[in-house]
Amino acid sequence: MLKYEYKNAVNIGDVSLEDIEKVDYIKAYSNLMEKLNNGVVGFREVIYDDLDKYSDFKNEDGKNVVVVGMGGSILGTMAIYYGLSLYNYNNAYFIDNSDPEKTLSILKKVDLNNSIIYIISKSGNTLETLVNYYLIKRKIEKLDSFKGDIIFITNDGKLKREAEKNNYKVYSIPENVPGRFSVFTVVGLAPLYSLGIDISKILEGAKYMDKLCQNKNIFKNPALLNGVIHYLHEKKGRSISVVMSYIERLKYFGEWYKQLFGESLGKNNNGLTPLLSIGAKDQHSLLQLYMDGKKDKVITFITTEKYDLDEEITFEDINDEKISCNLSNIIKFEQMATEISLTQRGVPNVRITLDKVDEFSLGAMMYMYEMQVGFMGELYNIDAYNQPAVEEEKRICWKLIKEYGKYGDR
Ligand code: PA5
Repeated sequence: MLKYEYKNAVNIGDVSLEDIEKVDYIKAYSNLMEKLNNGVVGFREVIYDDLDKYSDFKNEDGKNVVVVGMGGSILGTMAIYYGLSLYNYNNAYFIDNSDPEKTLSILKKVDLNNSIIYIISKSGNTLETLVNYYLIKRKIEKLDSFKGDIIFITNDGKLKREAEKNNYKVYSIPENVPGRFSVFTVVGLAPLYSLGIDISKILEGAKYMDKLCQNKNIFKNPALLNGVIHYLHEKKGRSISVVMSYIERLKYFGEWYKQLFGESLGKNNNGLTPLLSIGAKDQHSLLQLYMDGKKDKVITFITTEKYDLDEEITFEDINDEKISCNLSNIIKFEQMATEISLTQRGVPNVRITLDKVDEFSLGAMMYMYEMQVGFMGELYNIDAYNQPAVEEEKRICWKLIKEYGKYGDR
């Protein structure tokens, strides 16, 4: 369950409740609903899928789970996995870059014979995923025999051909679900299931949020309201959206949110630049900038009612006076102090409070963001589901590798 609070985004500065009413959010709502209902975009229908098929991804022996992918093919899985793990990452390995040190050190450590290896790429042609797959392939070929499992989740391209040639299991992603919206499909749910996570609860959270998002009354629809609030502030020159999480294990939720927001809305001179901050740490680095720097930001605090680990501490303050309180209260008061200070300085902010960080609340919050981005795409009148600029970089990179790759240096 989550609570969304927005009063600090409308009571200060130049965006008011009346401004919200003036936005044609009903049109944005209807346009998105039409796309979702007609199957033009499929990220809603997948949360109602039957989960029986996921028994294919059972991992009864507690094998390692190695996930290879980029962007939307891996970030949502990481967001949920790290969000639910209390800093114990026993058997999960995520290979999501072409940084040789990262990939090679993971591959040195992990026993592939005792692993389920997911190769995930909707296009099947993503350079980093392809190269990382080839590294794994080479490592496997050097083994006397290979006892692990390789599962491809791909629709097309070189990786699909590679999977078919080698008779690997292949699963496909619904065509109408773009990569960064695909966490609730086989892309996210299969590896999470193999990692022992209760995926039905994730979807329960998403469905709970979906009900709220059906509301035409904007004040009962957190995704629509948060979308309109960010849209209005952006129009007033606040073009940076900072998610400041006071739950450190949501770091990868932040990475996922950055991709979803940035790649979906950064089009035709629109969008907000998404940033991630971790409280209370960033109070000692970025808060000065947020409070006293350029007034170009909207802050979203993410907090929780309950931390899974907590303890009472008695300590002496700087005047040698005894204080006893829970660790969770210290970070809560730090969040409150930051919120009050920012509000006093006229920096708009909203707050999302999870009752606890679990499958349900993560499913609900991530689905809320998918819907919010969908609504914002309609407000901006852009296609939130493509990424033409990224494709441009990909073409140039392939050209460079083909022309100069064999020479090693630039
Ligand atoms: O959201 C998107 O579509 C992209 O960010 C992709 O997820 C990313 O580029 C990886 O693409 P693919 O899944 O085709 O390897």
